[in-house]
Amino acid sequence: MQLFLDTANIVEIEKAASWGVIRGVTTNPSLVSREGVGDFTSLLQRICSLVDGPISAEVLAEESDAMVQEALALAAVNMEQIVIKLPLTAEALQAMHILKGKGVRTNATLVFSAPQAMLAAAAGASFVSPFVGRLDDIGHNGIATLGEIAEIFSLHGIETKIIAASIRHPQHVVEAAKAGAHIATVPLRVLQQMLLHPLTTSGIIQFQQDWAKLK
Ligand code: E4P
Repeated sequence: MQLFLDTANIVEIEKAASWGVIRGVTTNPSLVSREGVGDFTSLLQRICSLVDGPISAEVLAEESDAMVQEALALAAVNMEQIVIKLPLTAEALQAMHILKGKGVRTNATLVFSAPQAMLAAAAGASFVSPFVGRLDDIGHNGIATLGEIAEIFSLHGIETKIIAASIRHPQHVVEAAKAGAHIATVPLRVLQQMLLHPLTTSGIIQFQQDWAKLK
């Protein structure tokens, strides 16, 4: 399973990219807004220069023709890397279908059920993003929903990739991998939590102390 970074923050992307562990980036309007960046196009260019792989950029239009126009402008930043994120509506399904015909990859976002994921795949989405954490937040089982989508896609040879999104902690990443997600998109905080284990930290200190006794 690949790891993407879920952020629009350049410093965070530089840091995670330097570790050599991320294969793409997902942004959304809330994450971009948090950065206070007015020029989304420049931000996307910068992200593409830092990370090889798919970079998700979300459209805000709500009507399919406008979604397609907005998507084409964003995709023009880098046709190889930019993936257009569309929140799952009927208008978005139409836009996904049109964009597939134009060779633009899409990522169906705000996906909360298997039927929604099936519709996105049928419309030609390259990626679907079930929001694991937000489902857990309302008392549902986000990983179970993800597993259902993975089982259906595998059973029917559906090539749409599943991105486990709205990841809150390392155990979500592990469970998403076991449930069949192709990708997990994680905030830097979770990536850092994945790295840490108290026995690693104490083990390093012990090795240093024992080595120092030789001197
Ligand atoms: C990624 O594609 C999503 O936009 C993101 O994971 C949402 O995460 P959140 O539920 O923490 O906002």
